[in-house]
Amino acid sequence: MSTGQLQGNPARAYEEYFVPAIFDPLSAHTLRRAALTPGEQVLDLACGTGIIARLAAPLVGAGGRVLGADLNPAMIEVAREVSGHGPGAPEFVVADATALDLPGPGFDAVICQQGLQFFADRAEAVQRMRHLLRDSGRLVVATWQSPERHPFFQALAEVEAPLLAEVGLSATPDDLLAPFSFGDADALGDLLTANGCSTVEVEPASITAHFADADRFIERQVFAYVAVVPAFGADPAAFTEYARRVAEATRDLVDTHRVGDHIAVPMHTQIAVATG
Ligand SMILES: C[S@@+](CC[C@H](N)C(=O)[O-])C[C@H]1O[C@@H](n2cnc3c(N)ncnc32)[C@H](O)[C@@H]1O
Repeated sequence: MSTGQLQGNPARAYEEYFVPAIFDPLSAHTLRRAALTPGEQVLDLACGTGIIARLAAPLVGAGGRVLGADLNPAMIEVAREVSGHGPGAPEFVVADATALDLPGPGFDAVICQQGLQFFADRAEAVQRMRHLLRDSGRLVVATWQSPERHPFFQALAEVEAPLLAEVGLSATPDDLLAPFSFGDADALGDLLTANGCSTVEVEPASITAHFADADRFIERQVFAYVAVVPAFGADPAAFTEYARRVAEATRDLVDTHRVGDHIAVPMHTQIAVATG
């Protein structure tokens, strides 16, 4: 495996590898549930490299406003680079969802696509999101379904878990499946209701993620994942060795999902829509 990819910028790798495969197709479902209309004000919370913000901007038009916020400054830097500037372009800020300090209420929609499961205090984040909503505003939250619904990623994690300690990475086995750590639709609905939301509706949605560059799937996906869980990248030498060993140990497993030059993986989310 070449190690060039492991020396670049994980947030850019996220934008180039994960966004076209996963987050762009998923955004169609999330934005359909958000039902944005011209002139609306939108917050994309835990925006990553800003895919929701970018797709929301033309929906709300010149009379609207889109703000993206993320904890990771590297994600915000790439979001700004790829989202354009000037009238109609989204704006971006570095912010922690659990300590969000924006003037409110002011947003017609607060959208959080695959972010809530990573927050240290989910209840606090929901309360803060709710306080940012106007009276008629809605909260739209998407979290992946459980690891059991994602057997390919679960099987990868089983191979990866012992390698973390072997190479001396500080990331934990829980970090491997963190995206799927809030996978229960009822728990998502209950969290929103318990923190003051009303008319909570949770619906499932599925995509097939098509990861390009099948031969380098592991290398590219473990590196892009550093943008989501920075602990993986804390020790670059250990991480490079980890990626090499994971690629070697998962070759046959990855091949079971090969379709031509892509790796195709079904992924399942739940999307909650609630009013404040
Ligand atoms: C899987 S990514 C999803 C990004 C984006 N919503 C998308 O659809 O591409 C999860 C994001 O949550 C962000 N995040 C994690 N904890 C956060 C927090 N406490 N406040 C704000 N963002 C956070 C990470 O930096 C990361 O960009």
